[in-house]
Amino acid sequence: MKEMGLAILGCGRHGERYLRHIAAGDVAGARVVVIQRRSRELGESLAARYAVDYVEEENRALEDPRVQAVIVASPPGLHAQSLRRLEASPKPVLCEKPVAGDLAQLAMVSPAQRDRVMVAQTLRYHPTLIFGRSRRESLGPVHFQRWSQRLEPSDLSWQRDPALAGGGSVLLTGVHLFDQIRWWWGRTPDSVVSDQLSVQGHPLENLFTATFHYRQEERIVSAEVAKCSSSRCARLETVGTRGQCFVDYLGGEVRELRATQWEKIEAPPARPTLPAILEDFLAFAREERDNPIPLEEGVETLRMAEACYLAHREGRRVDLTEIPGLPSKEAPPGGIPR
Ligand SMILES: NC(=O)c1ccc[n+]([C@@H]2O[C@H](COP(=O)([O-])OP(=O)(O)OC[C@H]3O[C@@H](n4cnc5c(N)ncnc54)[C@H](OP(=O)(O)O)[C@@H]3O)[C@@H](O)[C@H]2O)c1
Repeated sequence: MKEMGLAILGCGRHGERYLRHIAAGDVAGARVVVIQRRSRELGESLAARYAVDYVEEENRALEDPRVQAVIVASPPGLHAQSLRRLEASPKPVLCEKPVAGDLAQLAMVSPAQRDRVMVAQTLRYHPTLIFGRSRRESLGPVHFQRWSQRLEPSDLSWQRDPALAGGGSVLLTGVHLFDQIRWWWGRTPDSVVSDQLSVQGHPLENLFTATFHYRQEERIVSAEVAKCSSSRCARLETVGTRGQCFVDYLGGEVRELRATQWEKIEAPPARPTLPAILEDFLAFAREERDNPIPLEEGVETLRMAEACYLAHREGRRVDLTEIPGLPSKEAPPGGIPR
């Protein structure tokens, strides 16, 4: 298999995870040729450690003839700018979640470039969640489900800056849950109510609940993120008419409840999600398969996030039809940023 040359834009903490897996040979047929980040000092030392090139300017990475595909791992408020830069040297892109700071930023990206984007919804590759989803049929009709992530506060300064982060926990962590909800139930929910708080002096919301309704299916799906604890857990609880399933996807455990009897279900062993998502991305970049997670899926998670913000701001239930998607296929205004 011919090796595909990759560039990583915004090669910070998460970008280095991609770099580490590829350097360790965890992904067949991939080689990082160049990384980009703001800090020259950190960039050069990272590049030396992994024997790749470093550039400070995104355009230099994008114009490098060895680069055939790109990973965007910068703060969300910068993603759309990078996608627009790529219009001048089109390549397939694996773009981190959330795919942009908001829908308006994404609307500036040309339709042709949008088609080249796969969204890095890494939880779709999580073995415990894949397994938990496969148990769905045994639960009978499901009328209630609860997703939660309770985490430590982040020490990344951009996560406190609305222009770079796009939002707080609803956007940065919520989109993981929103994508899972869509993936489980096959479509975007119909409406939402949401409560949000900024606690411990955080400038953006770091605690929220969102209660989504699927009208036809008589189903409520609740999502909750609390990024204000010194402890950490991530859970999924699914309530079916025949029983309940509890997935602890950080701990890799699945338990089921039938009547009053608990049973531990053997789940597949843990494995990192990045090599699996990279394998799918490379197959897409080589045109061996369709886009596994097209940009439209990222748009839907942004619609869910924006509906949560509106619901909280106005203190009411918001119908998802109130949040339009992207304008369709006409060319966006403005030139390509250098
Ligand atoms: N899919 C997942 O599970 C997952 C997990 C973690 C993160 N992510 C996503 O990955 C992206 C990066 O997150 P991270 O945790 O890697 O953050 P990070 O460690 O802060 O990395 C951000 C990178 O962007 C660069 N950057 C460029 N302009 C910047 C600016 N104005 N302010 C701050 N940084 C700037 C930074 O360069 P310098 O450091 O050189 O300044 C750094 O290389 C985000 O979109 C995040 O949502 C996804």
